[in-house]
Amino acid sequence: MISFRTRAPSGLLADATLRDAADEIGRLSTAIGHRFATFRLSAAGRESRVMVAIRAALRDRLGIDEGDGPAELALALRRDGQDWSLLIRLSPRPSSSRRWRVRDYPGALDATIAFAMHRLMDPVVDGTLVNLACGSGTLLIERGGDWTRSIGVDQSDEALVAASANLAASRRDRDVVLVRDALANLPISSGTADGIVADLPFGMLGERVGLADLYGQVFNEAARITQAGARFIVVSTRRRTMVELLDGNTNWREYRPSLTVSMPSRGGPITPRIFCLERVAPESGIPVDGLR
Ligand SMILES: C[S@@+](CC[C@H](N)C(=O)[O-])C[C@H]1O[C@@H](n2cnc3c(N)ncnc32)[C@H](O)[C@@H]1O
Repeated sequence: MISFRTRAPSGLLADATLRDAADEIGRLSTAIGHRFATFRLSAAGRESRVMVAIRAALRDRLGIDEGDGPAELALALRRDGQDWSLLIRLSPRPSSSRRWRVRDYPGALDATIAFAMHRLMDPVVDGTLVNLACGSGTLLIERGGDWTRSIGVDQSDEALVAASANLAASRRDRDVVLVRDALANLPISSGTADGIVADLPFGMLGERVGLADLYGQVFNEAARITQAGARFIVVSTRRRTMVELLDGNTNWREYRPSLTVSMPSRGGPITPRIFCLERVAPESGIPVDGLR
């Protein structure tokens, strides 16, 4: 799911918001290679004057009709604290449960979010992909692009056993290496990663203490192992930590605005945010240490 924030539902009728939403849906439709034929907006007061106007505006802007039954493109308008969010389901059908998931893992990422993160890496790159905090391997399996090799790093044996089993079941284990190590000190040579994806720990597995420091170390290590232009797609519920780290960061810049996504969890839905980062030229970044 992707969300657009507005103070009131009628804010969606603003030209810029509607255009942004339609552009995002168009881009996702291209990324997943599927042209939606029908849409449905679920919202409280769906038949109210403002909702009818929003549905009509979406119909015009998207150029697709509302379906009678279950529609291909599912949109939902929900109150989100002080704001309202337009949620967009990323796939024509819910497909977060994948056949390849033979091993569950607490805190495993929703597969559709992992899929979308790779498509946000646009333009698709090749070379070496590094998946930091790889857990049970969701981001390694859902990878797009034409990577020649992929490296998953996690400090947990349980995670790596699950990742190994899931990768084998997915048959996407070719040229994938799993490494048991700490994120703060990656066993990867400087400047050798062409793209990084990460679903960073957010306290679910009881590691709340020191998370801000860990994120800082991850940002530095990610900068060390990449060169200018590399993409780093991160999902995290620790929005404040991420925003603080990015504020004035000389190594990473956001090449597109962050997106809020929604995924189910045992305690109810959680809404992490996807950050799309690009490595900036090294001369303005931290000193890169020698090759390991
Ligand atoms: C949110 S989970 C990732 C879940 C994964 N995306 C999946 O689908 O299974 C975060 C992962 O970070 C790992 N982790 C936490 N702190 C770490 C550290 N300091 N070094 C390496 N891995 C760490 C945990 O073992 C956990 O697997």
